[in-house]
Amino acid sequence: MKLSTTIIPTLALLLQPTQALVGITWNVNNSSKALQEITFPMNIANASHESGFYFAQQYSFKNQKDVGYTGLQPRPDTNSKPKLHAAFSSFIAGTTSTDPNCSDGADGGAGVSCAIDIEGSYAHTYLLHVNNTAGTTWTGTLIDAVSGNETRVGSYTLPEGSGGIVGDQMGFVEYYPWNAAGGHSCKDLPRSAVTFGKPVSPGRVGALKDAYEYGDCVGQVGFETHRTLRGVEVSVGF
Ligand SMILES: *[C@@H]1O[C@H](CO)[C@@H](O)[C@H](O)[C@H]1NC(C)=O
Ligand SMILES: *[C@@H]1O[C@H](CO)[C@@H](O)[C@H](O)[C@H]1NC(C)=O
Ligand SMILES: *[C@@H]1O[C@H](CO)[C@@H](O)[C@H](O)[C@H]1NC(C)=O
Ligand SMILES: *[C@@H]1O[C@H](CO)[C@@H](O)[C@H](O)[C@H]1NC(C)=O
Ligand SMILES: *[C@@H]1O[C@H](CO)[C@@H](O)[C@H](O)[C@H]1NC(C)=O
Ligand SMILES: *[C@@H]1O[C@H](CO)[C@@H](O)[C@H](O)[C@H]1NC(C)=O
Repeated sequence: MKLSTTIIPTLALLLQPTQALVGITWNVNNSSKALQEITFPMNIANASHESGFYFAQQYSFKNQKDVGYTGLQPRPDTNSKPKLHAAFSSFIAGTTSTDPNCSDGADGGAGVSCAIDIEGSYAHTYLLHVNNTAGTTWTGTLIDAVSGNETRVGSYTLPEGSGGIVGDQMGFVEYYPWNAAGGHSCKDLPRSAVTFGKPVSPGRVGALKDAYEYGDCVGQVGFETHRTLRGVEVSVGF
């Protein structure tokens, strides 16, 4: 999905086709200054170990109209071990990276995409940490909240003049096989689930609004959402 800076999905739908299914708005208050660091907790304990879903959080940068995302994608088990794919990208034209796990382009457009695959337990909560590590350079790190294990996803440098992270944006659940040309049938969506945790920035705990459906399968994919101690749980599919 790519919603540019808008957090109004209906507007984004007019602008471009997207196969995201669910949106969830987050905010971190008291951010008169843009954020230099933000962490998005996420748990996919109830996701099936198959490729197809992307559970992500978007963030905007001051002085830029395009966004970055970070998130998790399930992968099939490898040698009977659970595997997770973590992504960290920028859709901002002029973003550069020399990181081995990053490449030019994001969703077929401008930007940079960084990704890693790790062996890791689905039961654990993961922290998607986005940090301003120098100038306009941002580093994405995947942190296993249970083991403390940290894996660098990658880093990218935004064009000069880019600012820090703005205190509100949205996350989403996307079924990306539906991004390919051709139709899809809402009732064929496989079942999956995610819990979005409240974002955290040093000294500040953010908030999540309720998750909501959007796209062309509203009311047709078995969407359920609950608030739990961990955050906002979302499940979709059959
Ligand atoms: C996974 O599903 C079980 C059973 O519905 C539920 O009790 C649990 O809270 C879910 N876990 C997460 C992280 O959503
Ligand atoms: C990062 O990229 C390097 C070089 O392509 C690769 O060997 C390594 O496995 C990647 N790291 C992860 C965690 O995916
Ligand atoms: C930490 O992550 C690395 C890279 O994925 C992996 O090789 C290592 O086994 C992990 N360690 C623990 C304690 O999970
Ligand atoms: C974030 O980056 C800054 C450098 O800009 C560094 O001092 C700090 O330790 C980093 N935070 C974490 C949690 O890695
Ligand atoms: C914002 O600042 C006020 C006053 O310092 C404080 O009471 C409040 O808890 C802060 N809110 C957040 C979300 O950090
Ligand atoms: C931040 O402010 C907005 C608007 O005033 C409010 O709806 C939201 O609950 C606040 N979030 C937190 C974490 O205090």
